[in-house]
Amino acid sequence: MRIIRTEDYDELSLRAAEIMASVVTLKPDALLGLATGSSPLGLYKVLIEKYRRGELSFAKVTTVNLDEYVGLGPEDEQSYRYFMDHNLFCHVDIDRERTHVPDGLAADGEKEPARYEALVRSLGRQDIQLLGLGVDGHIGFNEPDRVFHEDTHCVSLDPSTIEANKRFFASAEEVPRKAYTMGVGTIMRAKRILMVVNGEAKAEVLSAMLKGPIDPMLPASILRLHRDVTIVADKAALSKL
Ligand code: GLP
Repeated sequence: MRIIRTEDYDELSLRAAEIMASVVTLKPDALLGLATGSSPLGLYKVLIEKYRRGELSFAKVTTVNLDEYVGLGPEDEQSYRYFMDHNLFCHVDIDRERTHVPDGLAADGEKEPARYEALVRSLGRQDIQLLGLGVDGHIGFNEPDRVFHEDTHCVSLDPSTIEANKRFFASAEEVPRKAYTMGVGTIMRAKRILMVVNGEAKAEVLSAMLKGPIDPMLPASILRLHRDVTIVADKAALSKL
């Protein structure tokens, strides 16, 4: 595991974007695993700037996103499909048909996890999977649990996640209680993993993830078993290490 320490969020975004961009430069038809949340926003902005400067093309890239709220569709500003469209896809030359997010409005919600898992598998292994880190140690929406869930599944969100994510909604009541998420197996199949972590609020959980036991109660701890993980974190997030 490599840890890249940065002074602040801007430097973190630059360094992480350089890693993502290098994957696409070396393999223009790369399969990128993407993430939402506030942590990757700066990185996406840098990728858009690189595209505008003509340094990068997404024309042949395929993407798979980690997760989506159950019940929210692409037009809903809080959905992760909307987030991806508006924070990255609409601004670059990607073919939207090759961008994949679990379908929050799937008519048969019971079957959606298996459909999405099969789709991701059919595309091969992610050349790189981008991740943020939840305050409770979640990756995607893999919440603390007694076991690690391997494949894409439907989860009930942890109260701490609802609390952390309510900033994007009018109130905590409006945060969906359920989400579809890649499993830890789906994530760990990626050839490379890139995690971005910023801010003091993540310092405790980042330290526990790196130094504590590998435990499904802290899902991100399983990344220590992956052979190619890079964490780009600012000094505030690394302050407890
Ligand atoms: C959200 C998402 C995760 C994200 C995490 C951290 O709930 N499901 O994919 O990485 O929480 O979010 P943020 O980057 O806003 O702190």
